[in-house]
Amino acid sequence: MRRVPWLNLASLLSIAILVMTATATGNAAPFVASGPCTRDDVIRIFRQTLGRDPENEGAISGRVGLPCDQVKEEIETSPEAIFRRVIFADPTLRLGQRIFRFDTFGDEAFWGDVLQLHKAIIGSKNGGVGGGVSPKTALAVGLKVDVDALPDSLRDALAKGLVDLDDPSTTIALLKLNAVVGVTAFTNPDGSVRSMGIQCALCHSTVDNSFAPGIGHRLDGWPNRDLNVGAIVSLAPNLQAIADFLGTDLDTVKKVLAAWGPGKFDAELFLDGKGFRPDGKTAATLIPPAYGLAGVNLHTYTGWGSVPYWNAFVANLEMHGIGNFFDPRLDNAAKFPVAARHQLGHTKVALDRDQITSKLAALHFYQLALAAPKPKPGSFDAAAAERGRAVFIGKAGCAGCHISPLYTEPGWNMHTPAEVGIDSFQADRSPDGRYRTTPLGGLGTRATQQGGFFHDGRFATLLDVVNHYNSFQNLGLTDGEKRDLVEFLKSL
Ligand code: HEC
Ligand code: HEC
Repeated sequence: MRRVPWLNLASLLSIAILVMTATATGNAAPFVASGPCTRDDVIRIFRQTLGRDPENEGAISGRVGLPCDQVKEEIETSPEAIFRRVIFADPTLRLGQRIFRFDTFGDEAFWGDVLQLHKAIIGSKNGGVGGGVSPKTALAVGLKVDVDALPDSLRDALAKGLVDLDDPSTTIALLKLNAVVGVTAFTNPDGSVRSMGIQCALCHSTVDNSFAPGIGHRLDGWPNRDLNVGAIVSLAPNLQAIADFLGTDLDTVKKVLAAWGPGKFDAELFLDGKGFRPDGKTAATLIPPAYGLAGVNLHTYTGWGSVPYWNAFVANLEMHGIGNFFDPRLDNAAKFPVAARHQLGHTKVALDRDQITSKLAALHFYQLALAAPKPKPGSFDAAAAERGRAVFIGKAGCAGCHISPLYTEPGWNMHTPAEVGIDSFQADRSPDGRYRTTPLGGLGTRATQQGGFFHDGRFATLLDVVNHYNSFQNLGLTDGEKRDLVEFLKSL
């Protein structure tokens, strides 16, 4: 039987890479398609479009001499190319979206079974403990409600004010509808809540508030800067489990969590156990966006690794999903005492229990497809932004590191704390001791979210950021140039 080429694994993998490249750059592969096609051109077009070589000599010779544009179009619109786009790209994106929004990776074993967080949410009347969390309280700690998950009847009732937003039972109903962004309840056959888990979307999605504050359509990739992770976690009846893991006491854990505040989380706490900086402020960082990452090499504020590296890290070590994870850098007991003690860099489960590894490809694919949002027209002064662009590239030297259109460096996008004029505390909590140049895509929309700028939000406004660079690098910017630069940043 003749082998059907698009069903072999190697070609599927190369298509994945191809489709990702196309999604990432927003246009076709960098092929100059003018003039009559040579044999090499035909082969290249096959590779770029279908991720494989032509199947036979006839497929090549029949095309040599035709205009390259025509050859390209022919191959791009071939049944094989269309088949691949339909069966592969689309389902993978949808799968990745489902994982990002709804997959707990088995982490309910931690958040529910161990910490018992669901019990505090449902309250004693519903089989849990304490007063429970009403929808009002849930919204107040920054949880978001996905309006598209609500049945029409409930939307109507909400609009008419007929839904009791002070009753934890309403929260349970919303959880069962999968309407609370990033949180899933697991139920018994009788409908009672037995556990709960969290998803990527908890921190990296928000809603557009189209229905009411905190209720709207999902905005995946946008950091939820209202979310008070520390306040939510500290509700857990069994915080002792975290204290034991960190090798500290309950009071310390509570103090650390209370210090985070809205929009922040500390991804390094489970590695080094540091709750506070030397200046006494929280060691937590702002939740960053998870959009605009395609083409960017290193991720996180301190450049821990690539997107799939970090996704595996987070799913295993932060969300406490069930999977395998390898990173011997975490064996460094001086830097990562907690991680080294618990051998976190050698997290192992039996392959048939692994609920993370098989999801990393689709999750990666989806994240690369999340483009940085553009700011609303009118939210910045376009003429000033244009002048600001010249300052950004010229006098202010920003484009030395923030290189467009990525607005980070292609390559090893890392800098010493001294190069950006800030302390080394957070950089020292990472393997390389450096800060990663933040990709600035979507900065305009971020400017309207709370939280400030730089990893810990130390600069409240973009003007503060500009003033910082201006003074420590002696840029000599005039007030007008600073204003223009800020307008340019708001346009990104
Ligand atoms: C509890 C909140 C929380 C959850 C849940 C969470 N993240 Fe994050 N994420 C963060 C924080 C905080 C950082 C910054 C960490 C740092 O720089 O040390 C981060 C960083 C990232 C980055 C790097 C972004 C950049 O600018 O380079 C990516 C990518 C990411 N997360 C993806 C995910 C994915 C995928 C999931 C689900 C598997 C997830 N996160 C779950 C809070 C969260
Ligand atoms: C030496 C390389 C370098 C140069 C030059 C540089 N930056 Fe940065 N930039 C960084 C790094 C690294 C960070 C991350 C700092 C952090 O998170 O603490 C950053 C962060 C930022 C942020 C914060 C983004 C966010 O979402 O928090 C803004 C805004 C910014 N830079 C603007 C500028 C402007 C404007 C200039 C020129 C005046 C400039 N940068 C020059 C490396 C650089």
